[in-house]
Amino acid sequence: MKIDGTPFRTIWLDQDGWSVRIIDQTKLPWSLDILRLTELGQVAHAIRAMQVRGAPLIGATAAYGLCLALRAEPSLAAMEAAAAMLAETRPTAVNLRWALARLLTLLRETPEPARVARAYAEAAAIADEDVAQNRAIGEHGLALIAPFADAGRVVNILTHCNAGWLATVDWGTALAPIYAAHERGIKLHVWVDETRPRNQGAALTAWELGKHGIAHTVIADNAGGHLMQHGAVDLVIVGADRVTRRGDAANKIGTYLKALAAGDNHVPFWVAVPSSTLDWSLCDGIAEIPIEERSAAEVATVTGRAMDGTITTVRLTPKDSPAANPAFDVTPARLLSGLITERGCCAANEASLCGLFPEFALPPPL
Ligand code: MRU
Repeated sequence: MKIDGTPFRTIWLDQDGWSVRIIDQTKLPWSLDILRLTELGQVAHAIRAMQVRGAPLIGATAAYGLCLALRAEPSLAAMEAAAAMLAETRPTAVNLRWALARLLTLLRETPEPARVARAYAEAAAIADEDVAQNRAIGEHGLALIAPFADAGRVVNILTHCNAGWLATVDWGTALAPIYAAHERGIKLHVWVDETRPRNQGAALTAWELGKHGIAHTVIADNAGGHLMQHGAVDLVIVGADRVTRRGDAANKIGTYLKALAAGDNHVPFWVAVPSSTLDWSLCDGIAEIPIEERSAAEVATVTGRAMDGTITTVRLTPKDSPAANPAFDVTPARLLSGLITERGCCAANEASLCGLFPEFALPPPL
């Protein structure tokens, strides 16, 4: 996507051909800072500190992290240790483990002298595939938006967190259909949940929609239900960090409450995911998906730009009040209108998912 006319991805190789460039998302929307990562530790920090975030982007970043680790030490033992370290950085988004497993499977079979080059080629393939998959999600999701645009009517879409191009290598998942609809001249307005505690909606989704010229309004997280009751939301589209084989979807904390409100108000609720976010090994999302618990400081404080222009973090809570910070929740499949994948849209259940991805269907019991 373009920032002020210049095309960007969220991660790319530097001109030196080996170090990794990222946009530091902790600095948005205040400044566009590009970081250069040269070693494994920096990559692990970037993922943990959420300089890069969003399930597909975390996966691509981990892949490049393994490349940097192998460049320093290409032995099998060092590779396994680096992958284990990266896998621990964030637990919920399955894309991280998916990308590492894909590289490890290939590189364990690769002789040491060829390992680094092969790792970089595979990391690039992961990044390029993510872009193509998200583009396809955009086209499939467009078909869900278009019927609301009768006679040039403005379509009102609500989204939670940031599942835009910043959360992926490019295009985004939940925002890809919005970008596709905007390209086709459909008039849109996006309700952007601020998404406490880290405000990915207020800071990142609002920033990227604004850069793309898409009308949007940032709302407090609790406003969505009220807007739905008053007919102000045509549909909800969110991303996910992990979707089980029966269609339960883990996404940023608060997604579940939006799905409940959408169900109560008969507002369609779609979850957009590339296949790298599908975890075919799990069934019951509430019982089985690991939920990241982040620092209480993210709840107790908020960071923003002070009137004098400096970026400042202030405390919101009494200094002795404990805070808790579960970073994701699971929306049960029954609350979803369906899933938007790169292979098309489907109902959120195992049979429909396996209809699109027959290679993951289980053999019938004997
Ligand atoms: O904690 P984050 O910012 O990494 O959480 C991101 C989300 O929850 C996104 O909605 C999800 O990763 C889908 S991204 C295309």
